[in-house]
Amino acid sequence: MAPPLSINPLAEATELSGIRQIANRIPDHPGAVNLTVGQPDFPVPDAVKAAAERAIQNNLTGYSHNAGLPELRKAAADFYGNKYHFRYDPLTETVVTAGASGAMDAVLRTLLEPGDEVIVPVPIFAGYEPLIRLTGATPVYLDTRPTGFVPDARQLEALITPKTKVVIFNNPSNPTGVTIPPHEMDALAAVLARHDVFILSDDIYSENTFDAPHSSFGRYPALRDKLFLIHGLSKSHSMTGWRVGFLFGPAHIMQYIVRIHAYNTICAPTPSQHAAIEALTGSADAPAGMNRAYVGRRDFILDSLRRMNLPVVKPDGAFYAFPSVLEFPLDSKTFAVRMLEEAGVAAVHGSAFTRYGEGYIRISYAKSMADLATAMERMAGFVDRLRDETRHAGPDAKQI
Ligand SMILES: Cc1ncc(COP(=O)(O)O)c(C=O)c1O
Repeated sequence: MAPPLSINPLAEATELSGIRQIANRIPDHPGAVNLTVGQPDFPVPDAVKAAAERAIQNNLTGYSHNAGLPELRKAAADFYGNKYHFRYDPLTETVVTAGASGAMDAVLRTLLEPGDEVIVPVPIFAGYEPLIRLTGATPVYLDTRPTGFVPDARQLEALITPKTKVVIFNNPSNPTGVTIPPHEMDALAAVLARHDVFILSDDIYSENTFDAPHSSFGRYPALRDKLFLIHGLSKSHSMTGWRVGFLFGPAHIMQYIVRIHAYNTICAPTPSQHAAIEALTGSADAPAGMNRAYVGRRDFILDSLRRMNLPVVKPDGAFYAFPSVLEFPLDSKTFAVRMLEEAGVAAVHGSAFTRYGEGYIRISYAKSMADLATAMERMAGFVDRLRDETRHAGPDAKQI
């Protein structure tokens, strides 16, 4: 008999995202409150929906240019450029991708070769590590836990080697909700300017900042020609299923990135692109309303976690909180699974965000206040019961 056909071992080693590992269990627990996925609970603005309907009715549904509709590229370059103080040419330095995910994939596959190193501040969104490994490159972790989840410039410099090809940032951060303060941005930019490395900054949550405006690496002229910026509408306009992201970067490399992007998706969905023009123009203030709700929910979640005596760093962007559950003699996945099974609250184990997230759980508060209140009450009961159980298990409980 012929041996079974083998597939790429790098693909075989790729695991299902930890977020989905928990989310996929939720249907088995009717009544559970789902605090797992990064899905805003607000509807897409009416004018954006109407723009998509018009595009469909007018048969504007064929392929677009690989890099996206020129009018959308212009709207995106203007909107993000004016707001965050950078200039990328709409025609040669702006690509509309199938979500931020499409941008991440196209950039990393264009830049990375086997043997390259990619510095990744951790804990971080689960989407990066598999993409890096699939190219044969290796992630090098910058541990942000000792610095309140803010990447530290000196630590970054210590990790840079001749093999370092890309440094990734995700600001505001998923899973911690922390943003990089302007003084640390300055320090990081100074280090990055000194070294021959590309920078990929995933700013998908740039519209969701609460305490200060978003601060972009696009502000630093010294980084201009080695910087790639990711934005998108999934979070800001609740358009996760519409698949619209934006990538900005220097023309001499974007010409290659657009080819990689084209061989993957040809173009972002065209009706969504027409709707995206409305999102960035007539409906540009949609995130402000969502942010007002997020601030109230964040404060409620912080207050609830503090009442439970679970340490948590105050998030000032995105819509996540990342409390520590290190006191319990369980790994974070067991904690998350038991909380779902025993208390009907689904949150994501921290280890889904690289192993540096072990000992934490991620709570998405893109949920109604009523759902959050139910979830926090149930979680408080679960935490109490777990503390009782741990006390009765005695000092060896850590070894379970
Ligand atoms: C940091 C980060 N980047 C990218 C994505 C993917 O976004 P998109 O839906 O635009 O592909 C997410 C989604 O949760 C995210 O949190």
